[in-house]
Formats: sequence, C-alpha cells, structure tokens
Amino acid sequence: MIDRINKLRQDFGARVAQATDADAVNRLRIEFLGKKGHLAQAMQELRAVPAAEKPAVGKFINEFKQHVERLLGEQAEKFGKQAGAGRERTFDTSLPGRRETPGSLHPITQTLDEIETIFHGLGFRVEEGPEIESDYYNFEALNIPKDHPARDMQDTFYVEGDTVLRTHTSPVQIHVMERQEPPLRIIAPGRVYRCDSDVSHTPMFHQIEGLMVDEGVSFSHLKSVMNIFVHQVFGKNTSVRFRPSFFPFTCPSAEVDIQCVMCSGKGCRVCSQTGWLEILGAGMVDPAVFEAVGYDPERWTGFAFGMGIERITMLKYGINDIRLFFENDLRFLRQF
Ligand code: FA5
Ligand code: MG
Repeated sequence: MIDRINKLRQDFGARVAQATDADAVNRLRIEFLGKKGHLAQAMQELRAVPAAEKPAVGKFINEFKQHVERLLGEQAEKFGKQAGAGRERTFDTSLPGRRETPGSLHPITQTLDEIETIFHGLGFRVEEGPEIESDYYNFEALNIPKDHPARDMQDTFYVEGDTVLRTHTSPVQIHVMERQEPPLRIIAPGRVYRCDSDVSHTPMFHQIEGLMVDEGVSFSHLKSVMNIFVHQVFGKNTSVRFRPSFFPFTCPSAEVDIQCVMCSGKGCRVCSQTGWLEILGAGMVDPAVFEAVGYDPERWTGFAFGMGIERITMLKYGINDIRLFFENDLRFLRQF
C-alpha cells in the first residue's frame, strides 16, 4: 500500500510540473481528489489493511492528500492570476437588477422651493433669522408693545424671561433692516411656533416673509406682486381678493384671499360658504417700524407680507388635515 502511494506521489509530482494552465490543474484535481479519484480509492483500500498497520498507512495517505491539495492550490492560484490579468471582471447579466428607491422632497419643501423661485424671479433675495427670538424682535420692534392686545393674536411659547420661540417670520424684517440700507427686496422662509393645534393649526409650521423697501413703493406694487405670486402657484384663472385687516406693523393692512380651490368660488364647507380662502397677511410697513430700525419714514416706503406654507400646500393639493405633513406616513408622502 505504502509503495502504491509512493508511486502515485511521484506520478502526481511529474504531472503537476507539466500542468500549464488552470484547466490542466482542474483535471488533476478531479483525478486525485475527486469522488472516484486516486485518494478516495486509497481510503477505500485502507479498510482492508490489517489493524496494526492502519494508523501508519492512514497517516501516510493523509499526508499525501494534504500535499496534493497544497500543490494544486498553489498552481490554481498561479494560473488563475494569469488568466484574470487580461480579462474584464465577469458578471452575470441575467441577475435581476438592484432596484433604486429614490427619496423625494417633502411637500412643504417643494412648496418652499417653488415660492422661492417665483420671488427670486421678481428680484427678491432669501434671508434667514433665528427661531429663538427676543421679545424685542418678535414684538416690540414690530410695534407690538408689552400691553398691546395684539399679543393675544398669537399664542406664544416663552423660553425664559424675554426669550420666545418666534411666532412669525416678521422679526427677520427687523434684523435685515438693522443691517442694511434700503432699497431692499427680501423673502425670509422658516419655522415658526405657536401654542395651537387642530386640523388647520400645528404648534410648529412654516412661513415665508416678504419685504420690499424703496422710494415710492405703494400698495399697488403689493397688489401686483401678490397677483403674480397667486397666479403662478394656483393658476392664471384664480381670483385674488384684498380684505381690510389689522397688523400692528403694517398700515394699511390686508388679508389676501384666493377663490376657493375646492368649489371655484361657489361656496362649500372648506371655505365656510364664502367662496374665498385666506392665504396671507400683508400691508404697507408702518412708519413706527422704520423708526425702530433707523430708516427715514419720510423718504422710504415699503410693503410686507407673511404667508403660511402648510396652508398654501394644503390648498394646492386639496389636503384636508395639516397634521398629515408631520406624521411622515410614506403612503401620504409618496403622492408628491
Ligand atoms: C402673521 O403671522 C403676520 N406676521 C403676517 C404678516 C407679515 C402680516 C407681514 C403683515 C405683514 P398670521 O398670524 O395671520 O399673520 O399668520 C399668517 C399665516 O400663517 C396664516 O394665514 C396661516 O396660513 C398661517 N398660520 C397661522 N397659524 C398657524 C398654525 N398654528 N399652523 C399653521 N399655519 C398657521
Ligand atoms: Mg391670520
């Protein structure tokens, strides 16, 4: 038995040395290590070896097997490398593709982007301000003194002392005017906070503020900018209405309504049978605000407006509950 293995070993040594490619190595592997190969056969024959010799013969066969495996492994690696060197990596073209799952922008972000683009086209630049504000910027400088009843119009979250979460984006007007001289045309998008919650109000929502200051700016400029804006967002056939209103920081003030998008003005539940929906507050900048920032109210005039982004998005897509924006339900979000 030992002799036979020795012969096999010599034979194997010679043949391995002659192997010149990966195929030849593979054939040797089958011949020696395969199910019916020389080594399998030797293991079979081992059964007939007398018990006393078995351990020694078995060990000998095993050593030979390891020798074969090692040499074939080395050769295979050598030829494998050579073969791979000139070839492109292969891939299976029949494998199913990996599916892309693209994300998309949140509907609020889409509306913000759209509105920014419209105002950018009208020469307005984007400005930002802090979400945590002092009482001065959120109220005082906007002509809302401490005891003014207008403070009750907005349910304020107080952080501590005179610090609040801003209740609107109007304080950005003050920051910008303190820093820059007129003329200016800016919009200021961002988050605002109010202690308020129902189907059309959430404690955090988004506004876009607009401000234009120059010599000779009049209410007709405001009207025309609002018309352009509404027609671009809601379509050319949407009527716009200015309704007298009150804000301490504008005079005169107005609220801007659009024809109800649900009933086209006929009157329905959404518009409380009026045919109109409020989309924003606006007006001519109050001289008291110009004085607070050191602008000469005799020389400069301006208009300002502030709109709720959730509101506009709801009207645009016919969404009936504002809270859907903040639940992150993919079935809702995938529709945009
Ligand atoms: C203001 O916040 C004024 N700063 C707007 C303004 C700016 C007037 C410049 C004049 C000049 P008002 O409180 O009405 O106004 O809010 C404006 C819009 O924010 C509303 O029309 C509404 O669309 C939206 N809004 C108000 N409260 C909430 C809320 N809790 N959740 C969602 N949207 C809200
Ligand atoms: Mg209002």
